[in-house]
Amino acid sequence: HAAEAMKTDLMTITRFVLNEQSKHPESRGDFSILLSHIVLGCKFVCAAVNKAGLAKLIGLAGETNVQGEEQKKLDVLSNEVFVKALVSSGRTCILVSEEDEEAIFVEPSKRGKYCVVFDPLDGSSNIDCGVSIGTIFGVYMLKDGDESRLEDVLQPGKNMLAAGYCMYGSSCTFVLSTGSGLNGFTLDPSLGEFILTHPDIKIPKKGKIYSVNEGNAKNWDGPTAKFVEKCKFPKDGSPAKSLRYIGSMVADVHRTLLYGGVFLYPADKKSPSGKLRVLYEVFPMSFLMEQAGGQSFTGKERALDLVPKKIHERSPIFLGSYDDVEEIKALYAAEE
Ligand code: AHG
Ligand code: MN
Ligand code: MN
Ligand code: MN
Repeated sequence: HAAEAMKTDLMTITRFVLNEQSKHPESRGDFSILLSHIVLGCKFVCAAVNKAGLAKLIGLAGETNVQGEEQKKLDVLSNEVFVKALVSSGRTCILVSEEDEEAIFVEPSKRGKYCVVFDPLDGSSNIDCGVSIGTIFGVYMLKDGDESRLEDVLQPGKNMLAAGYCMYGSSCTFVLSTGSGLNGFTLDPSLGEFILTHPDIKIPKKGKIYSVNEGNAKNWDGPTAKFVEKCKFPKDGSPAKSLRYIGSMVADVHRTLLYGGVFLYPADKKSPSGKLRVLYEVFPMSFLMEQAGGQSFTGKERALDLVPKKIHERSPIFLGSYDDVEEIKALYAAEE
């Protein structure tokens, strides 16, 4: 009977956020409106990704972005969709996208109180071979009501009000936190709605998987090399861990949340700050990890305590099961 009730009592993402909002009587529904526009963007990208192969959307767009990466058509398309959706929501004042060199300051007539940082298409190197890709976002509140300044998006990740990602894989999964737990929703294409499928996600305290690009091993620092060595050749007789690395952060983090384990993008001699961008990759995923009972470390500090100085700043990142990250923190502490 309960299963039956589930079928008719559809907990859509919209309804879920409205329930959350009712806990904040002072809120005037602005966040719900913002979120509905982010969800719209994700539905569009999901549809575009699903027919990319057919619509010849894959392949290089010819330009390169501020990261010096070849922009693929879907990168460009999804960036435009999100910028337009966010501006038209009338609830944003500053946007930071991986694909735009400068922050976007929304025109006064459309301005709202939220600053959104986002990676419109994460894992774009995987587009052409059909491997899961995604969108990552984080939301800050404007620091002082009237003026929007760059400092409003250079806040530590712990100041984020909300964060989430959408993964375009075998199904389209939206994972969201507004600061009180973590929930996953799956797109029902027949309804065009995201339905709650993963209530109150909690990451296992310890995992059996490590996730890192082993191809960078020759450039790793001591603690990272020691941790990975321990995963492969445990001294205490425990079984070696499995390596799982997809190369799309969204997919690697989603698996880590559900199965447990640890995801690493360490610093190395080539890139001393690692590769992943603080505002729209490290902060949102660290926020979600902490909400799920995991943790996230930069090699020096709690990732969410970091104060970025530039909008495309990078940081090393070690995130996942609480106990696994504790081991990494101990190795870095021993180095000091
Ligand atoms: P993006 O496609 O948004 O530029 O992000 C790619 C990132 C991230 O998704 C992934 O974890 C990482 O690049 C993989 O990097 P390597 O190929 O160097 O392992
Ligand atoms: Mn990129
Ligand atoms: Mn990315
Ligand atoms: Mn990207």
